[in-house]
Formats: sequence, C-alpha cells, structure tokens
Amino acid sequence: MGSEISLSSFSVDHLLDSRREGQEQSDEEIRAFIDGVVSGAVSRPQAAAWLAFVFVHGMTDAETVSLTRAMTESGETLSWPGMEGPFVDKHSTGGVGDKVSLVLAPMWAAMGLRVPMLSGRGLGITGGTLDKLESIPGFRTDLTPDELRPVLETAGCFINGQTASIAPADRILYALRDETQTVPSIPLITSSILSKKLVEGIDRLVLDVKCGSGAFMKTRAEAKALSDSLVRVGCGAGVETSAHVTDMSAPLGRTIGNALEVQEAVETLQGNGPPDLIELCAQLSGNPAAARESLDDGSAWEKWCAMVRGQGGDPEAPLLGADCGIEVFESPADGILQSSDAGELGMAAFRLGAGRTRAEDSVHPGVGLKLFARVGDSVHVGQPLASIYHDEAKGLEEARAHLLRGFVVG
Ligand code: URA
Repeated sequence: MGSEISLSSFSVDHLLDSRREGQEQSDEEIRAFIDGVVSGAVSRPQAAAWLAFVFVHGMTDAETVSLTRAMTESGETLSWPGMEGPFVDKHSTGGVGDKVSLVLAPMWAAMGLRVPMLSGRGLGITGGTLDKLESIPGFRTDLTPDELRPVLETAGCFINGQTASIAPADRILYALRDETQTVPSIPLITSSILSKKLVEGIDRLVLDVKCGSGAFMKTRAEAKALSDSLVRVGCGAGVETSAHVTDMSAPLGRTIGNALEVQEAVETLQGNGPPDLIELCAQLSGNPAAARESLDDGSAWEKWCAMVRGQGGDPEAPLLGADCGIEVFESPADGILQSSDAGELGMAAFRLGAGRTRAEDSVHPGVGLKLFARVGDSVHVGQPLASIYHDEAKGLEEARAHLLRGFVVG
C-alpha cells in the first residue's frame, strides 16, 4: 500500500500551485498527493482545491494513469496466486433495468474465465448490483478475501461489495467531489471507476458506457468521450480494456427493481431472457456464440447456482419482498408505443422505493415495475403496459405520474 515517495519530498503548497497553473505533474507528485489525502497530511480543503483545479484544467492521460494507480494502491488489492485466469470483469456506468452483471458473470465463468467482481450500491434512481443480489435470502456481499477465493475457484465468479479498505482515496475524493460540484470531470470519473476495478487483480476489463435519458451520460458525444478515456487510461495502467457505448433511452429487459431484476436474470440464465438483454450480454462477452451457448446448455445457470451458494444464498429460495401489492398501469390511448423513457420509468421505480439518494438509506427488495410493451408495439387503450409492485401504496401516485410521462403512445 502507498508509494515509496512521501509527501515530505514535495510541499503541498507546491503541488497545489502547479495544479492551479495547469502544469503537468509527475507520477511521483500525484502519488505523493494521493498518499497525503489518505494519511490526512493533505487537508480536506486542500484536496477540494486540487479537485477543482483538475476540473478546470483537466489532466493528461499519463497523469490520469498515475492518479488511477495511486488510488488503486491506496488500499487493499486482491490477487489470485496459483489460480489460472484469465481474470476479467465488466463495469457499467449504470442504467435502468441494467441486470447485465448478474447474467454476464456466470456466463463468463461458464466460458472458462474467472470473474472477481467487486460492485457498488446504487446511488440514484435504482438499486445497484449488490442491492439486487441482497434480495436473495442469505446472499452475502461482505465476504473477506479469504472467503472469496474458494468461491472464485469453484464457481468461477463472485459478486461482492467494495469494503472500506478498497481504494480509500477514491472514497474520500468522491465525497469531496460530490460536495464541491466537481463530479462531471472525465479524468476524475475515469480514475474513480478504474481504480475500483484495478484492485481486483484482473487482466481484462469491459466497460459498458450507457447513454440516454436513463444514464449518467445523456448524449452519445459525452459517453464516447468517457469511453475513449477509460480505454486509453485502462490500457495505460496495464489492463486490456475495451468499451461499448450502449443505448439507455429505454429500460433494459422487462423489469426494473431489485428482486424483479434478479428474477429476470434467473430466467435469462435458464434460457428465457428478453432479446435485448441477451444481445447486450453476448456483445459484452467478447464471444457472442459461446455466450449464447452457455445459456442454451445450462452451464451459465450452473455457475450462477454455485456462486449464490458460495456466497451463502439459496438459488431455489423465493426472493425477498414477494409480499408487495400489484397494480396495473394501462395504456391511456390507442396507437404505437413511441417511447418507454428510461429516465421516467426509473424515477417511477425510485418513488416506489427501489433506489436511494443517500448511501445510508435502504432499498425495498420487492418494489418496481414489470413492463409488457416495447417501443414500436401497437397498443390499445386500457391495455396493460406495466405492473406496478408497491409497498402499501408508498409512492404509487408519483410513480403513476412518471409512467404517464414515460409511456408515449402516438
Ligand atoms: N462512478 C464512479 O465510480 N465514479 C465516478 O466518478 C462517477 C461514477
């Protein structure tokens, strides 16, 4: 952990001055600064100023590689001595109904790859991968590295949480960015995302950069700029990195919500998935034919069951949150479904309790939406477009208002 170069080799004032003037900083200077952020030798106001200077001037790719590495090495890293790879993972910038990790990890495991996936909780309109998995009774997302190794050996994949000892520099800087309105900076986003993936000891990384109304990046140009930066910096940091920019104007698959998405992932692994989800998983896998084969022959499903058991869950048990009320949302008109807006439908699920805005908030496992129509379908007035799963009508009226805006029939 940390580097040989200590902050005492450079003064914090000097590091701030050169950053303010937009001068390129060396690997040693960036490492020293990040070490100081974690040790406390760099104060929070100093770190906030440094972030603001990066926000304004940007960073070269070489600097972003240094920042990524320094953040990765600011805490615990995982390694898999004696285990045969290749070790691979994917990261998505997050979308509505995005349950790709749940399908792709066991798919890759079935294809002979090892997937040591560390994931986060969702902040925003829907839950993250961990929130989804926690709707499986008994499923643990807080395994220690010693507990993870046998799961990776037997199942070929795990999906676990990022502990406090993983990339602590990112946690400190991300919180400061949030407070200082410096989140939307390409080098800062790039290093933040990659640092938390590089701790996994992977050889390859596939990035799914979403663009559209339900995504962090709303336009294709923004998504492309981030995806290009992630690829250049990931490769510069020594991991074979590729990226796909994929559409998030409509939700992925037929469900939004934690347990509902796990159920859909299970159906997909059992060979009954929606075409858009299967297509995206196959595309991201790098070997579409083998990926589809793993769904058809049941091998991906077997890996899923092994992973769930290895992490303390029961793959056959009913999912949590099954006691929700269900109401139908009907088409307000006859016509063609013009839009099934990911942003609005995601907000509907959020109002029902599927997501959170503060890390300490809990999410409801069972609430959300099941979607029955896709853009381009011909629909008639009164036809069910979605089932709304709610907890004692909490957020139901607001959710209906979002659905009315999100489903455009024309
Ligand atoms: N996700 C991250 O992990 N970091 C960012 O900076 C933005 C999105």
